[in-house]
Amino acid sequence: MPEKPPHVIAIYPGSFDPITNGHLDLIQRGSRMFDRLIVSVLRNDKKRPLFTVEERTGMLHEVLCIYPNVQIDSFNGLLVDHASAHSATVLLRGIRAISDYEYELQMALMNRRLRPEIETIFMMANEAYSFISSRLVKEVISLGGILRAWCRRRSNSGSRNGFKKEIQLNFRGIRITQCRH
Ligand code: PNS
Repeated sequence: MPEKPPHVIAIYPGSFDPITNGHLDLIQRGSRMFDRLIVSVLRNDKKRPLFTVEERTGMLHEVLCIYPNVQIDSFNGLLVDHASAHSATVLLRGIRAISDYEYELQMALMNRRLRPEIETIFMMANEAYSFISSRLVKEVISLGGILRAWCRRRSNSGSRNGFKKEIQLNFRGIRITQCRH
């Protein structure tokens, strides 16, 4: 059994096409649990992404620059090799509903078979965001929908529901609203 490393580095991998408030919530919570959290964007054109990897890492930089222990990267190939290259011992994934479980279980078991020293840790998505997925957000964007719908609205007092700051991202004319809590 390997010993606990003095600094626990975790990778939070995903397509992030685009980053949603569900991702952001998990990153915020993960940044409090691990010494370093690396948010890594998968480079995979087979998924026919809406945003390029550079646009997605750009969005992540804009939204995550306030977290000193959060780093942004991208990767090709096996996730566990990418984690190893960063000396990461944890893969962080979010689970929204039972429908996520089967896919996540298969990935976690395969990754464990490939590199048993790397542990997958699941966090339950915040219930406020459990219906949000990049796939649905992409569909809403492509049909001209308004994305404020997936962001908690500013209350009169400005800070109810733990709400702190709203960030507007603008990529190729597509406006995305992110909330920091
Ligand atoms: O946000 P997503 O699209 O659900 O993230 C999926 C991701 C990036 C975690 C997954 O596709 C992945 O790990 N890809 C890397 C390829 C790999 O390592 N495959 C073998 C283990 S299942």
